Amino acid sequence: MPSIISSSPPRALSLDPPSGLSTLPSDLPIGCNTLISCFDHMSLSSLPGSPTKPHFPPPVTHRNPTPLGTREQQRRIYLGPKLSDRATGGPDAGPLIERFSCLFKDQYNCKLNPRGIVSLGVAENFLLEKECLEYFTRAFADNFLASDLSYGDSLWGSRRINAALASYLNEYFDPAEEVKPDQLITGVGCSAVLDQLFYTLMDEGEAVLLAGPYYTGFDRDLIGRARVRLVPVQLPEGDGAFEPEILEAFGAKMDELAKEGIRTRAVIVCNPHNPLGRTYSRETLLAYARFCEERDLHLVSDEIYAMSVYDNPDFPHALPFTSMLSLDIESELGIAFDRARLHVVYGMSKE
Ligand SMILES: Cc1ncc(COP(=O)(O)O)c(C=O)c1O
Repeated sequence: MPSIISSSPPRALSLDPPSGLSTLPSDLPIGCNTLISCFDHMSLSSLPGSPTKPHFPPPVTHRNPTPLGTREQQRRIYLGPKLSDRATGGPDAGPLIERFSCLFKDQYNCKLNPRGIVSLGVAENFLLEKECLEYFTRAFADNFLASDLSYGDSLWGSRRINAALASYLNEYFDPAEEVKPDQLITGVGCSAVLDQLFYTLMDEGEAVLLAGPYYTGFDRDLIGRARVRLVPVQLPEGDGAFEPEILEAFGAKMDELAKEGIRTRAVIVCNPHNPLGRTYSRETLLAYARFCEERDLHLVSDEIYAMSVYDNPDFPHALPFTSMLSLDIESELGIAFDRARLHVVYGMSKE
């Protein structure tokens, strides 16, 4: 159950899941290539250019030469009556959906589908499956109310859920100030929440900056409907990518965009970072906050992996997770900070 925390007034969030289209033949031999062909496009788009070409088979491609593509190109993906350009002209909607679809239809199972696909690209919580099943089955039997079948007790989602989520966040995110239920908005997964959030925060064509490489789902979630520009800031390899100084590169990128007449409206920080799997220091998070205050930007902190951090003896100096919520930005930085610009996204699909 994901949530957005924001000091702005809550709004209801919901989004239908995308429908799948699959063109992969069912008699395709299952092997290494099959797995790679599902991911070559998805995992590479946010990576910096590589001098050596990877040995991936060519993707099944309907890629459009322009952001929207021609009507004819769109119709190669979907053959029914014309759909909106917004829906069909998003970032590589066709191949992305096809590749995801092929995974879900043919998932590996040692007994039922031993030749199925082992997905290394989708993070799901299988470890707690048994406990979750038991817990939710019991909760459904004991605690399901008539009001759960109606519009309920609030226009912004269930007050019971928000109260439970607030106490969860207060317990595990160490907030500088107690999180209140009415600061939360819930939706059906962080993907849907990000879609709604950026549709609300930004206008079409405006830029959002984020450290590259980045989680490629942001393309689908932010560009598909909000039609914003996702601009990766390529950072130095290694520890440097997580230091406060990286905000200089963000500033330079923002200035560069301004010269082209593109307005930057927001910054995303993904902490713990997907795909790099690292956490940010308090100092770097404060640098993000300062940058956004000085440049008048929204700051979206995607903390979906907050509870997936664990001690690893091979990395004894790895930093623990620090939530943006735990920063007392005004007193730690000694500046005024408008908290309405901070939005923390969290979901339980990874826990
Ligand atoms: C960084 C990040 N944000 C958001 C999401 C989407 O989360 P959800 O599964 O809740 O839609 C993912 C999923 O992999 C993710 O890695």
